[in-house]
Amino acid sequence: MNRLLHSLFLSISLILISFPVAAATVTIQNFAFTPNVITINLGDSVTWINQDAAPHSTTQTGNLWTADLSTGQSFSREFSKPGTFSYYCRFHPSMTGTINVRNADQSRINIGQSIIAATPKLLPISLNLAGKNANDVYAGSYLVNAQTGCANCHSCPTYALGHNPYNGEVKQFNAATYLAGGVQIEGQVSPNLTPDSRGRPAGLTRSAFKELLRTGHDPDVPGRILQVMPWPIFGLMSDKDLNAIYTYLTSIPSAKTPANACSIGQ
Ligand code: HEC
Repeated sequence: MNRLLHSLFLSISLILISFPVAAATVTIQNFAFTPNVITINLGDSVTWINQDAAPHSTTQTGNLWTADLSTGQSFSREFSKPGTFSYYCRFHPSMTGTINVRNADQSRINIGQSIIAATPKLLPISLNLAGKNANDVYAGSYLVNAQTGCANCHSCPTYALGHNPYNGEVKQFNAATYLAGGVQIEGQVSPNLTPDSRGRPAGLTRSAFKELLRTGHDPDVPGRILQVMPWPIFGLMSDKDLNAIYTYLTSIPSAKTPANACSIGQ
């Protein structure tokens, strides 16, 4: 590829892969903080950049933080407590701004929902929310997609064609057979986790699903213990988390296991 085109392509991919964002930027310009009000997830950072010729500051009303910024300077702060934080410029007190930090549950829900709603598309599936608590579904999406990696072993292939991050491509999960199984790992083939005709993920009731993640007992073969599947780790989760995972799995589209098995991480 032409070198210029190649570097252009690289810089475009760098912009695109920056989702989901765990850092927010507030620009100081024309004697204003922009955006003026932002809402972030617990643990995210905010960076203020002064692009005015005049010196400014970001100073929290209760003095939790203060930083003077001359032209071109920036200041970053991580927000580890939920709440609403007001700040102003100590040189120009009419310049004010607000940072809302979601609590831990709201942050999980927000990330779990963003993964489905992301632009560019990250996981382009439609969730069936009928009769479900949407917040439980999104909390489950956070656990399944951002924490436990179920799709790494249960989606064949894990990533859409041309969107495999291991090849340096812009990441997008394979939606057509998302969590429908068929990945071959150490002599095992991962089963289909999508809802069956009764709406049960992997054909399991909620209590059988939780029992399986806690004990590793194979639901199909009494006495057999599931191999490869990281149930000894997943079984350490709270009931609330296992319930959220189950609820999320009841909301994803049903799909058939692909006829040809994949290898892991494809
Ligand atoms: C490291 C790969 C891996 C990961 C990660 C993984 N699984 Fe599995 N899973 C497997 C394999 C392989 C099997 C089949 C094991 C066997 O039969 O011995 C399996 C089996 C299962 C089963 C049994 C279904 C049945 O009817 O037999 C369920 C349910 C399941 N996994 C759910 C999940 C969920 C939910 C997650 C994410 C929270 C997850 N798995 C993450 C590899 C994985």
